[in-house]
Amino acid sequence: MLEHKILYNSMEISNDYGRRDYIEAPEKAIMEKLSGWLPAAGMLDMGVGGGRTTKYFAPLAGRYTGADYAPSMINICRAKYGSLYPFTECDARKMDRFRDSSFDFVLFSYNGIDSFSHTDRMTALKEIARVLRTGGYFAFSSHNLNWSMLPDLFRLKGPDEDKHKSVAFYARQGFKNLRLSYLNKSLLMGNLIERLKKNERGCLYDNSLNGKASIYYITSREQKRQLHKNGFRDIMTFGRCGRESGKEDELNRGAWIYYLCRKR
Ligand SMILES: C[S@@+](CC[C@H](N)C(=O)[O-])C[C@H]1O[C@@H](n2cnc3c(N)ncnc32)[C@H](O)[C@@H]1O
Repeated sequence: MLEHKILYNSMEISNDYGRRDYIEAPEKAIMEKLSGWLPAAGMLDMGVGGGRTTKYFAPLAGRYTGADYAPSMINICRAKYGSLYPFTECDARKMDRFRDSSFDFVLFSYNGIDSFSHTDRMTALKEIARVLRTGGYFAFSSHNLNWSMLPDLFRLKGPDEDKHKSVAFYARQGFKNLRLSYLNKSLLMGNLIERLKKNERGCLYDNSLNGKASIYYITSREQKRQLHKNGFRDIMTFGRCGRESGKEDELNRGAWIYYLCRKR
């Protein structure tokens, strides 16, 4: 399977991200929470992609830098924003170009962190903690392993399907599911998900990035442990609807969970 970086650097995927310009409800909630504080803050928008979040966060931040390891994403941001904000090629796992404590806020939006292996995720969390000053904020989202509808992704009738689909639709869906079973090396995806849940984290091919790369899924409990271990405190969680909540049952209604925390 292809490396995430090759996929993100493709013109097809970069252009797709470049066209996006909405803000997710939890991102808006986080932005509002930090709004009084952002004008004095240095912000790093890591994994900035096509600059979707730039439009909303950059005008509020005292100093804004967008970064991504995919050069084609950086080119799109530069074409979109000209010299208004700096954009730089940088890998979240090795941010040598940034000194310790050089930012007040790091954002890694839209599950960018889920393209890492477990070891790389730990490296990236350490690097993010290093470039943040004490008390600085880190916000990101991640795929929720306890999402109540996760097994439905691998069933013939997916979560969004209506009842009136053609035979061709079901044939395509069946083929897609077989392919995912093959990639995940499991015919019984429900069992695989249960196994991953016991570990509270794991990687799955779920058809993200056209099913060409695996995605890291994690429970909110394990994510909080990882954050604590890597020097973060005061962890808040937000559901996809934008509501802040620490309640598992509420969070588990969503495929993604948004996290906001502070460097210890
Ligand atoms: C799902 S896209 C999200 C893009 C953008 N943040 C948004 O919200 O629209 C993930 C982005 O993270 C970037 N990315 C993934 N791993 C990275 C890494 N190790 N270092 C820097 N950027 C990375 C990808 O190139 C991609 O642009």
